[in-house]
Amino acid sequence: MTDTGADLQRIGVVGCGLMGAGITEVNARAGLDVVVVESSEGAAAAGRERLERSLQRAEDKGKLSESAADVLARISIVTDLDALADRQLVVEAIVEDEDAKVSLFKRLDTLVADPQAILASNTSSIPIMKLGVVTSRPTQVMGIHFFNPVPVLRLVELVPSLLTSPETTERARSYVEGPLGKSAIDCQDRAGFVVNALLIPFVLSAIRMFESGFASAEDIDRGLVLGAAHPQGPLALADLIGLDTVKAVAESLYEEFKEPLYAAPPLLARMVDAGLLGRKSGRGFYRY
Ligand code: NAI
Repeated sequence: MTDTGADLQRIGVVGCGLMGAGITEVNARAGLDVVVVESSEGAAAAGRERLERSLQRAEDKGKLSESAADVLARISIVTDLDALADRQLVVEAIVEDEDAKVSLFKRLDTLVADPQAILASNTSSIPIMKLGVVTSRPTQVMGIHFFNPVPVLRLVELVPSLLTSPETTERARSYVEGPLGKSAIDCQDRAGFVVNALLIPFVLSAIRMFESGFASAEDIDRGLVLGAAHPQGPLALADLIGLDTVKAVAESLYEEFKEPLYAAPPLLARMVDAGLLGRKSGRGFYRY
């Protein structure tokens, strides 16, 4: 049988935080068998709770064609990486730390038995090449970048490195657009891919505009909502993403391209230092 994404039935996810839980949920809702690995029993319990809450909400809203319990039955949450040995695709969604991801990819390479298996990362900023070259199979290593909240947002960025085979990318595309029902776009292995490379400088410009006293936060946001039909303004969006995350992504873009448009404005750095992180801390450009 030729390898198409539809043949990917046994999925592994590493990390069951915000993104890992979402990735697990969409796979299980697509009828696929998912093994999720967390780093400790406590984190595994938190991940299970996150999944149960989200699936219960989906069931209550009538979005599931089966019960939340039926979907959960296709998910195993474990703390032993060896449980991924028989997986056909593993999606890594652990902390955004290069050393941690490099050591994980080395281990995945030794333990995932199927030589055709795809080893994918959900990283937002670490070059896929750095993960591919530490394995013996860089042709099967790529970025599959989901968006938060994963069950809601339809986009997935497919990010092959220079060494990823076209077959791997096509297999990932069939899986993302087939069983997962998402829409894929192709990106080069450069910081920010497509969406963050456009979105982050836009958000940073809004912060600079506010910082300079040019306009109020409310007026900047109202301007874009009412004048450009954005669903929310850039400062409200920054609060939603989390100002620490905005700053971290800006820094990785700046590091890669050295362009002033990616440089985090001083106000953003001060707000992060002050713990004003947006919605998650109760205060950012707005109070929550
Ligand atoms: P998070 O902090 O919510 O989750 C990370 C999880 O990984 C934690 O539950 C942690 O216990 C677990 N973990 C850490 N090291 C591990 C290991 N060695 N083995 C197994 N589990 C381990 O982080 P989040 O936001 O889910 O981000 C995960 C990845 O997704 C990052 O690479 C991030 O750049 C990327 N991403 C994040 C988005 C977002 O909006 N938060 C959007 C798209 C990608």
